[in-house]
Amino acid sequence: MRGIYIHIPFCRQKCYYCDFVSFANKEELVGKYINCLKKEIKNTLKPKDKIDTIYIGGGTPSAIDSKFIKEILEEIYNVVGIDENREITIEINPGTINKEKTEDYKKAKINRISLGLQTTNDKLLKSIGRIHNYEQFKFAYDLVKQAGFTNVNIDLMLGLPNQSLADLEKSLKKVIELEPTHISLYSLILEEGTKLQELINNNKLELPLEDVERQMYWKTKEILEKNGYRHYEISNFAKIGYESIHNSNCWKQQEYYGLGVAAHSYINNIRYSNIENLEKYIQYIENSEYNKIKEIHEIQTRETKAKEYMMLKLRTLKGVEIREYKEKFQENPIFIYRKEIEKLTKQDLIEVDLDNIKLTKKGLDFANEVWEEFV
Ligand SMILES: C[S@@+](CC[C@H](N)C(=O)[O-])C[C@H]1O[C@@H](n2cnc3c(N)ncnc32)[C@H](O)[C@@H]1O
Ligand code: SF4
Repeated sequence: MRGIYIHIPFCRQKCYYCDFVSFANKEELVGKYINCLKKEIKNTLKPKDKIDTIYIGGGTPSAIDSKFIKEILEEIYNVVGIDENREITIEINPGTINKEKTEDYKKAKINRISLGLQTTNDKLLKSIGRIHNYEQFKFAYDLVKQAGFTNVNIDLMLGLPNQSLADLEKSLKKVIELEPTHISLYSLILEEGTKLQELINNNKLELPLEDVERQMYWKTKEILEKNGYRHYEISNFAKIGYESIHNSNCWKQQEYYGLGVAAHSYINNIRYSNIENLEKYIQYIENSEYNKIKEIHEIQTRETKAKEYMMLKLRTLKGVEIREYKEKFQENPIFIYRKEIEKLTKQDLIEVDLDNIKLTKKGLDFANEVWEEFV
């Protein structure tokens, strides 16, 4: 089984914290880009490919005309067929959606929606450059439900400038009342070169202290678990049976095609990505120079693949399942990584039982230190 990731690199406005490959004010390239994406789909996918998930992300897929989303999915279905059991997700920014779009997504067989909210506090939303307020988000959420979508994720962020624990609790309360099936909660990463970094460097905005940020994380976990959301990955919570299949497969080291500018792929033990320059991507595909759009990052050996598997599975709360590891690599991870495991258990960052190797409570706060051992 393989997944498909489609990257739509257009946004109405760049949020101050975001360094994803996405562009505001390049709308004139949308039509050309979609034609190239369709060419890349045709050139990459094979009729024998078994596809279990499709994820349309960005950027903001909902920022472009929904006819383009239909065309992309039709192109994929033309090659690999339609399968009612597939998980097909699209990301929506609440400031870019309308009734027609949600209905078109439904017709195109999309069955999972991911809405970016970040916080319900309008002042905070404005201060991080979001194009919508809470009311607009609520309108978008209702449209999605009215169109018949039952599997809906909401993205929230913690550690935003001037965000208090009380703000976060309010956001959680409001979001839980809407009963989404899935909530992603990302700790703010202050990215190099973003407007947010500049605002903070110039003392225009202030980040919460690190221990407040950690308090927010633990409070979120407590509130969401109390309300029936299972914490299954460091930043992800879901009602039982609604864990994201696409992302879970990535953490299981399953293969996926990444199509579109800057999209990452993992096929036949090779990790590669498409180039990030939108104009060059279009130029190369228009000239059918497909080899020029790819950059190889890693050709895995058995050893690097196994290490990466450890790192990916240690993102999940279940951790590394020893039986699964043995089936995949015909070795016992406890023996292979005895040095790393000894060091990390001494630091109380991971724990090992008969079945699993997983993060401890302290490990959830210092997960980066755990993953580093397996780079
Ligand atoms: C592609 S966006 C989601 C769809 C849409 N573009 C939107 O923003 O509404 C992916 C998500 O990544 C998260 N994100 C982006 N930049 C981040 C950062 N610097 N730190 C933490 N989370 C970030 C946000 O929660 C955002 O909703
Ligand atoms: S968070 Fe979403 S809407 Fe904002 S710039 Fe990033 S991709 Fe675009």
